[in-house]
Amino acid sequence: MDRWPLCLAYSCWPFGALFAKVGAMQTQHLSANSDTIQHAAQIIQAGGLVAFPTETVYGLGANAYNPEAVAKIFTAKGRPASDPLIVHIHHLDQLPDIAATISALAYTLAEHFWPGPLTLVLPKTARIPASVSANLATVAVRMPAHPVALALLQAANLPICAPSANLFTRPSPTTAAHVLEDLEGRIDCVLDGGPTSIGLESTILDLTSPTPLILRPGGLSVEQLQAVIPEVQLNLRYVDHKQEGEVVQAPGMLLKHYSPRARVEVLAGPTEAVQAEIQRRADLYHQEGQRVGLMLPHQDLQRFAESPYLQADLGQTEQEVAARLFDALRQLDQQGAEVILTTTLPQEGLGMAIGDRLLRAAEGKIIHVASPLPLFIQ
Ligand code: TXA
Ligand code: MG
Repeated sequence: MDRWPLCLAYSCWPFGALFAKVGAMQTQHLSANSDTIQHAAQIIQAGGLVAFPTETVYGLGANAYNPEAVAKIFTAKGRPASDPLIVHIHHLDQLPDIAATISALAYTLAEHFWPGPLTLVLPKTARIPASVSANLATVAVRMPAHPVALALLQAANLPICAPSANLFTRPSPTTAAHVLEDLEGRIDCVLDGGPTSIGLESTILDLTSPTPLILRPGGLSVEQLQAVIPEVQLNLRYVDHKQEGEVVQAPGMLLKHYSPRARVEVLAGPTEAVQAEIQRRADLYHQEGQRVGLMLPHQDLQRFAESPYLQADLGQTEQEVAARLFDALRQLDQQGAEVILTTTLPQEGLGMAIGDRLLRAAEGKIIHVASPLPLFIQ
């Protein structure tokens, strides 16, 4: 990659902005501060694309009212038009411009969890272009908690629609470097605010059905939602593929998603049995000449300390695992892993969202390892 024009654009900013306009798109990598946020807001207002940090993952933002700008998101990501975007706001006063009806429950949830990792699906107003929500009558909206995201939204004074700032089907970006890895030369600018704190995308809650439905588990846990709406239900709808231009009744979650280049094998079951199976598979694949990567919580990696395999340490707590997961997938990829062996966490708290992302990284396959046989038979 040719770094020189990038340095030039960066060091000569704001002249770099002019530089970026000629020839192939030059992506500006700007450390987030009040000046660069102002500059990025102007790019959004002018119909450009800005990647920015949120507390969940980096988003790829455009003016949600501008269909041409919205179209650029789909092109830059290589994302099918049938996959709707999330609209981001910084103030509740903006909500009536986006959502046609806002129930008392929506306001209650906003009061409890905004700004934060909760996306609400509500009926859409005509102000939001059809392309934002893939021709659905509904729209997804959230108020992010990251100070850079809030400052950008405020400076642009517009709702910003933003999917995660990765190429379609790649792991979501949790650093500006991840964004550049996928989108350098395809977007105007990335605002660098350091690594994101949660590391998994927002929880998506559909409020347009009689019972509130969780469509995607995420940074806000099911238990946290249940504390406010005990009737909430999980409705995880996985789909195998989508086609460009297809109008979907209800968007699902693509099974081929968060995919590193390596094949991912997720093992689930009692700890000892899972560890033994990981060992067995790692040795087998290694003997076959495959480059093996292990992506495991810290305590589970101990056993493999002396092994010849690539290792990604996911940390000790579920918060650490969530924050490191996408980075670990990308790192193992870069190190040339051909197969990544990993395991699920208990399906509670962030464990549910982690399990969902692993399932989709493995393209829908979880390998269940049986408990060892009981020692006596009656
Ligand atoms: O944390 C997040 O949610 C991040 C940050 C940037 O805010 N954004 C994000 O966006 O994860 P994205 O595009 O990767 O995921 C958006 C998903 C869609 O794939 C779809 O499943 C769901 O949100 N969605 C969007 N609009 C919807 C709608 N009207 N009805 C149902 N689901 C919708
Ligand atoms: Mg995404």
